[in-house]
Amino acid sequence: ASTLGASAAEHGRYFGTAVGANKLGDGTYVGILNREFNSVTAENEMKWDATEPSQGRFTYTNADRIVNHARANGMNVRGHTLLWHSQQPGWAQSMSGSALRSAAMNHVTQVASYYRGRIHSWDVVNEAFADDGRGSRRDSSLQRTGNDWIEAAFRAARAADPGARLCYNDYNTDGINAKSTGIYNMVVDFKARGVPIDCVGFQSHLTNSVPGDYQANLQRFASLGVDVQITELDIAGANQAAVYSTVVRACLAVARCTGITVWGIRDTDSWRTGQNPLLFDGNGNKKPAYTAALEAL
Ligand code: XIL
Repeated sequence: ASTLGASAAEHGRYFGTAVGANKLGDGTYVGILNREFNSVTAENEMKWDATEPSQGRFTYTNADRIVNHARANGMNVRGHTLLWHSQQPGWAQSMSGSALRSAAMNHVTQVASYYRGRIHSWDVVNEAFADDGRGSRRDSSLQRTGNDWIEAAFRAARAADPGARLCYNDYNTDGINAKSTGIYNMVVDFKARGVPIDCVGFQSHLTNSVPGDYQANLQRFASLGVDVQITELDIAGANQAAVYSTVVRACLAVARCTGITVWGIRDTDSWRTGQNPLLFDGNGNKKPAYTAALEAL
């Protein structure tokens, strides 16, 4: 097929992008979005600070713009993210202990319930592991509410939206390393104890290269009985096109790698300012990286 989404669909996968609600009036942007992609992730609009700016007052206007656009155009929606140590509203940042735990679980329940039936996969918890070389949990106010906060969030999300696939999502987990192994061990434990988890997201914010054991790492998670998804792909630096190709091929080689999401459309849309890590240039033209990704599909 001649587009990323249609080519991925021929392999039973989706090809998605992060979207900003404030760009849905940009004709070039929307033209590429609707032509190339069949899945979207809200780049910021479903985060805690956006959806619950004051405690118990939920605002979905911007997230709904993205969800409605996706549904009107036959695209999946990845929900991102219910709980994360970053981009929390100020009121939550000043909470701790049992008050924070119950506010967090209420947040999960409310947001997942509001979108029940409309989300393909939820990043229930984002970036909860540390980069300490030991595979430990990241120290955060949520972690200090008790090590069971992650499983409590997954159980609350399942109860609120039984049809959504529930994912754990993180970065620097692309190869087999201490951090990815810490997450792997959590999935083993969750599966053994019946904690509901359906997928693991690999953000894959890459520079210059991808670890040689990328595919093997995806496969070891898939072999536990969860789907794997590449959730925030962007690739800076030399060899960009070749690395895109390698990542796409790795996903296709893993039966349970169900989709790939790039973290923006044009280089000028990227959060990695000046690094030009995406598939389209600032004018919306296809880059060599686009051609490499399409040819790998
Ligand atoms: C980024 C957005 O792209 C930026 O617009 C925002 O200022 C900060 O967050 N990991 C994640 C994403 O899970 O939510 C982050 O998105 C990028 C890193």
